[in-house]
This record gives sequence, structure tokens and C-alpha cells, in this order.
Amino acid sequence: MRFSTLTALVAVAASATAQTISGQYDCEPAGAYTLCQNLWGKSAGVGGQNSTLLSTSGNTVSWRTVWQWQNNPNNVKSYANVEHNTAKGVQLSKLTSAPTAWQWVYETESNPIRADVSYDIWTGTTPNGQPASSASSFEIMIWLSGQGGIQPVGSQIQSGIPLAGHTWNLWRGPNANWQVLSFVSADGDITDFNADLKDFFDFIVQNQGVSSSQFVQAIQTGTEPFTGSASLLTESFSVALNQ
Ligand SMILES: *[C@@H]1O[C@H](CO)[C@@H](O)[C@H](O)[C@H]1NC(C)=O
Repeated sequence: MRFSTLTALVAVAASATAQTISGQYDCEPAGAYTLCQNLWGKSAGVGGQNSTLLSTSGNTVSWRTVWQWQNNPNNVKSYANVEHNTAKGVQLSKLTSAPTAWQWVYETESNPIRADVSYDIWTGTTPNGQPASSASSFEIMIWLSGQGGIQPVGSQIQSGIPLAGHTWNLWRGPNANWQVLSFVSADGDITDFNADLKDFFDFIVQNQGVSSSQFVQAIQTGTEPFTGSASLLTESFSVALNQ
């Protein structure tokens, strides 16, 4: 009896403090989000990474990932990310707005690092579908940072696109059964990003042949490290899909 009470108290206390995950595919609940390590390219390198949930409040989350990776400088080692649990399943034609805010900072970083800080948004022809699956039609990346000369999938097809108060270069190319569209900041690091993601969706519907009947299947935000070491703090992140 006494033992189980103590166990319960410990469990409650643990849920209110920072929790670090370190396994290759570990995930943990993070309020309105799920935080995942997703060290999918780990075998291409030597190193390690762990991710810590710092706090959640309503639709906002704060978290940190600490990484160091060597070898194969052109291979992504991981995509530690938070994915919104319910901001999904909305058809682009039904979307009225998709407000998002992301404040982040490199607390430490080696010189140089090869890494991006990015949104990874998945769309498909059905409301539900796992990211990077047979249900995926488009992967829409928004790079708020790309350091060390790294490049997105495919090739640059357009430059100097003004959207959401910033200027972007657009890359496009295939990956497995889906197309990747990557908006890369032409303004350098955007560490305080406030935008309506609908601006990006409208752009690809109007200019890249993306059907407005596509459904948003997942919105993830995180970082793709290639090589170097860093501690990346997301001070605050939120996103919503409004119909
Ligand atoms: C997190 O990963 C980094 C990079 O591999 C490592 O230096 C650090 O010791 C790890 N921290 C924890 C708490 O596991």
C-alpha cells in the first residue's frame, strides 16, 4: 500500500518535469504534440542524439534536442520532431488559416554544423496517412535554417519568393512515391517565425500543380542534422489548422 502510493507520487512528479528520450525511435506524449527522436539515418554516422520535453501549455510546446554526428556529410542522420496530434485531416480547399509560431535558438553549435531547422508537412489524397508512407503525395518542407551548405531533395526551381514576411527559394524533387517541395529561407536563419502556413499551401496549389483536394496528413517540426554538434532549443512552438 505504502509502496504503491509512493510509486504513484513519483509518476506524477516525473510527468511534470523534463523527460529525455534517447532511443532510436523513442517517442513521448508532449501535450497537444508527440515528441519523437526518429534517428532514422543513424547507421550512416557515428554519434548520438537525445531529445527532452521541457514544457507544454495548451497548444504550445517547448523542447530541446542535443546531437553530435560524424561521417557521411551528405546523409541526414535524424529528424527529431514534434508532430501535432490533431492538426491534420483537413483538405487544403477547406482550410481558412494555419497559424504557426516557432521561436528557437542554437544554445551551442560546433563550427561548422551541417543541419536544417524545418517544418515537414505531409499531404495525401486521404484524410489519414502516416508521414513517408504509401499514403503520402507531397512532403512540404519549410527550412527556417540550413547551415553548412546542405541542400534539399531535388533541384532549385524558383528563387526570391516572397511569402509570410520572408523570402524563399523553392526546391523540388521526388522521394520514394511522393514529391518533395522545400521552401528554403533566403534571409538566413529565421529564429522567430510567425506565419500562416496557408500562404505556402496556396502558393503550391497555384504554382506547383498541387490539388486543393489534398489533405494535410501530418505537421512535424524539428531538425535534420548531417554532421557537427549542437543543442537546439525550441523555446516555443505552436500550429493550428482552422476550417
Ligand atoms: C545527449 O546526446 C549528446 C550527443 O550524443 C551527448 O553528448 C549527451 O551526453 C547526451 N545526454 C544524455 C542525457 O543522454
